[in-house]
Amino acid sequence: MDSKIMIYEPEEDSFLLSKYVRKYAQGKVLDMGTGTGIQAIAALENTEEVLAVDINEEAVEYAKKKNINAIQSDLFENVEGKFDWIIFNPPYLPKDEDEPEDSRLATTGGEKGNEILLRFLEEVKGHLNFGGKILVLVSSLTGEPEKLFKGYEYKCLETENLFMEKISVFLLYEKV
Ligand SMILES: C[S@@+](CC[C@H](N)C(=O)[O-])C[C@H]1O[C@@H](n2cnc3c(N)ncnc32)[C@H](O)[C@@H]1O
Repeated sequence: MDSKIMIYEPEEDSFLLSKYVRKYAQGKVLDMGTGTGIQAIAALENTEEVLAVDINEEAVEYAKKKNINAIQSDLFENVEGKFDWIIFNPPYLPKDEDEPEDSRLATTGGEKGNEILLRFLEEVKGHLNFGGKILVLVSSLTGEPEKLFKGYEYKCLETENLFMEKISVFLLYEKV
């Protein structure tokens, strides 16, 4: 991984999601795309069983220095086992050629913006314990919830209006 890749500095999206991580996450928790570890740290308030994952090695090293159990992985590639709660604040913006390369990994979800989230929603299914739940942050720029969350039961927990977009925290679980 290029050592110039930046670690995502927590923003409104991070803070909105962490409010619900603190409220709900318990048992065995996975924090996908941990960045500075903000969601993992919120989960650690309720449980000791937290695994943080990031594709960015710098973020993984940063999390480890904070005593967070962390591994480098492209989504679930190196993740073993199942979890009670899985959290993801994904990169969700559509590709923008003007976005600096060092921040693209943390912000750009693909050409349309939802590609990483959709891949996550496919791969996550094999990693949820029975009754396991997902907390995910999405933007109005990411797409319509009913299209993104096909195959899942979902509920919007809170929406916040920002300058150019609305961000929302969703609670998801697999349809049985
Ligand atoms: C919007 S940031 C969120 C960071 C942090 N969780 C927060 O709430 O502030 C997205 C994070 O996902 C990571 N990421 C991007 N693509 C990934 C992938 N394919 N697998 C794992 N992590 C990824 C980025 O490196 C970045 O740390």
